[in-house]
Amino acid sequence: MKQGSSMAGERRWIPENLDPARPSPARIYDYALGGGHNLASDRAVFEQLEKIQPNTRQMAWSNRAFMRRAVVFMVDSGIRQFLDLGSGIPTVGNVHEIAGKADPACRVVYVDVEEMAIAHSRLLLDGVPNTAVVEADFARPGDVLDHPETRRLLDFGVPLGLLAVASAHHIPAEVDVYGAFDRYREVVVPGSALAISHMTADFERVQAKQMVETVQAIAHNPACLRTRSEITDLFGDFELAEPGLVPPSKWRPDISHTSGGGEEDGMWAGVGVKVRRP
Ligand SMILES: C[S@@+](CC[C@H](N)C(=O)[O-])C[C@H]1O[C@@H](n2cnc3c(N)ncnc32)[C@H](O)[C@@H]1O
Repeated sequence: MKQGSSMAGERRWIPENLDPARPSPARIYDYALGGGHNLASDRAVFEQLEKIQPNTRQMAWSNRAFMRRAVVFMVDSGIRQFLDLGSGIPTVGNVHEIAGKADPACRVVYVDVEEMAIAHSRLLLDGVPNTAVVEADFARPGDVLDHPETRRLLDFGVPLGLLAVASAHHIPAEVDVYGAFDRYREVVVPGSALAISHMTADFERVQAKQMVETVQAIAHNPACLRTRSEITDLFGDFELAEPGLVPPSKWRPDISHTSGGGEEDGMWAGVGVKVRRP
């Protein structure tokens, strides 16, 4: 990473080989959330997305708020360790902060494939106990599960919270995303949970295809919109907690939820729980 440039701290999170002209989904998302880890190329894409879909920023916030409620749900269910698949740039409300409020002993492994997300996560989590950052493609579960940091921090003998929040739609159709999720669900014990939010073209109010095509054309990142039924399949035999698979803002909205949200979230979201089978 570049250290101590003229813009001092601001630039410490930029990896050396980064092409600043090439936007990244992690940084576009960071900008949508009001974070400070994005570049002009990312902001330009975001502005294009807003022209296609004026509530793009609200979509990101609804998703982020879902993640917070899903983590609280898991903590309330007794889960104290988390594997965050496609964790992004952990600027605004990290999993370890949310879970750590309930119990500082909670452990979190953040997994991402994008250099900026990894660089910033490492910087932010340097010296933070009970957290680790793993650079891996989560569609290759072996690379994540056998990683020394995963093995060091997580205990697969007790319940674990799996998170794939706004990340599985980056796994293209030609990759066996179902096989990957099968593996994650298999390796955890009953009492574990899986939270997923995923972009879809199921809702007419959201120009999902146009949004994805715009990001793909400029950033060359893969994307795959899936239907409600296809996203349900990612949960396998896990039992969906109430209210099932719904738009993120409709998943157990709490007192902090103001108004709006629903089909205009452009996503399906839910939390499945692994139950003990006789
Ligand atoms: C839209 S961001 C979501 C971040 C975070 N989960 C949240 O909801 O706030 C999606 C993240 O998934 C990451 N990602 C995409 N494909 C991935 C893959 N195959 N393996 C690991 N991370 C991936 C991207 O780099 C990006 O940081």
